[in-house]
Amino acid sequence: MTGPVLAIDQGTSGTKALVVCPERGVIGTGFTAVHPRHLPGGLVEVDPHELYASVVEAGNRALAEAREPVVALGLANQGETVLAWDPGTGRPLTDALVWQDRRAETVCAELAPHADELRRLTGLPLDPYFAASKMAWIRRHLTRDGVVTTSDAWLVHRLTGAYVTDAATAGRTQLLDLDRADWSDRALDLYGLSDERLPDVVDCATPVGTTTAFDGPEIPLTGLLVDQQAALLAQRVTDPGGAKCTYGTGAFLLAHTGDTPRRTASGLVSCVAWRLAGRTDYCLDGQVYTAASAVGWLTDLGVIKGAADLDVVGATVPDSGGVTFVPALAGLAAPWWRGDLRGSLTGLGLDTGAGHLVRALCEGIAAQVAELADATETDLGTALRVLRVDGGLTRSALLMQTQADLLQRPVEVSALPDATALGVGALARLGVEPCLTLAEALPDGKPAALYEPRVTAGEAAGRRAAFRAEVGALLGGTGGAS
Ligand code: G3P
Repeated sequence: MTGPVLAIDQGTSGTKALVVCPERGVIGTGFTAVHPRHLPGGLVEVDPHELYASVVEAGNRALAEAREPVVALGLANQGETVLAWDPGTGRPLTDALVWQDRRAETVCAELAPHADELRRLTGLPLDPYFAASKMAWIRRHLTRDGVVTTSDAWLVHRLTGAYVTDAATAGRTQLLDLDRADWSDRALDLYGLSDERLPDVVDCATPVGTTTAFDGPEIPLTGLLVDQQAALLAQRVTDPGGAKCTYGTGAFLLAHTGDTPRRTASGLVSCVAWRLAGRTDYCLDGQVYTAASAVGWLTDLGVIKGAADLDVVGATVPDSGGVTFVPALAGLAAPWWRGDLRGSLTGLGLDTGAGHLVRALCEGIAAQVAELADATETDLGTALRVLRVDGGLTRSALLMQTQADLLQRPVEVSALPDATALGVGALARLGVEPCLTLAEALPDGKPAALYEPRVTAGEAAGRRAAFRAEVGALLGGTGGAS
């Protein structure tokens, strides 16, 4: 083994950095918060300089704690966040439009007649969540100068001078031909982006350049992957049929489907999991747009003091007291794809207290994840034996127990609190030590806790039916997947 690697997860609300040693595990950590701005009309922006500064600062913090040189760098990214920038100077030309930003709904509405074709080509439904519509919006409304890319391509360029994106992040644009894992001329044409200079699509574990941005010696950048797929990897879901859910700003359920793409019939996303040594693995992906950000919303309202308070306040009551919360505070993603909708809280009474709201929120998040698990099982044609989970909200025993109850499956909580960073760290190691197997490079996947369902199938079905009824009311009485 050659030495520690620096693994960086550049996420929506912060950047986490780890120095990971092959023998001693994590020997340094750093975190720097970033502050996206939530503006009226579903706009979510962040200053690109803040993203880059957070990468450097968190990385330096982890390196300072480790006090050892690293042999490689891995960088995970948010996926669908985009900006325009000058490839000559590296200077941003716009703010970064965050994946949650809904302003490109107009672009998607225009492309509606081509939705099926785009889905067949790219595996993705038409929705402003994905990068291409936001790229087109920037071109129409902000600037025609420079290049317009996902945030990873800009960060990598700032760090190394290379102009690349990894195959999985490219797959989050709706511009990638899913079967060939390369840019699709037809999708580019539909979005009016045919003249764009796009980054080269590279493997996820390969040297792309070196950086002197961090304190200490120059570091080769050898691992790149979009964040959810990095967590899938860290959770060792590398064979068809396994699934994980990460509870971060949103909650994201991904299932590995092997080396050929599996088109979804259930409203999920079919996308690239990773590309290693020219072999592309694929996954199915479903999203809950607001998980920790819904907890943050309850916190801002003063109902709880923060995520650590969920279990304390939730324990003050035995159930949600008839309250149903559809926490679609930034709209509904898979399998409904109605980002324009907003959440609902029903069943409130004079006796409703903070504990009921907390339990209703946990049920709302867990019920959406259960819908995604159902859709995954339908697409895979097999039952998920267990759901592996990671992310900050897995510290809530109330949420995890609710998840196991509504899913009627065991929920295995990862012992890896920073699965995303560890996943991309493993890729950085593979990139610098290509003789390793993927299994050798990955962290140990033993779970830290297991939650078994504690309610009957009948009770779970009843609670899910109540949730579906509220979703149906939001959808205008349809209640079904698009
Ligand atoms: O698709 C967006 C998602 O990957 C962002 O993840 O961890 O920043 O909430 P996170």
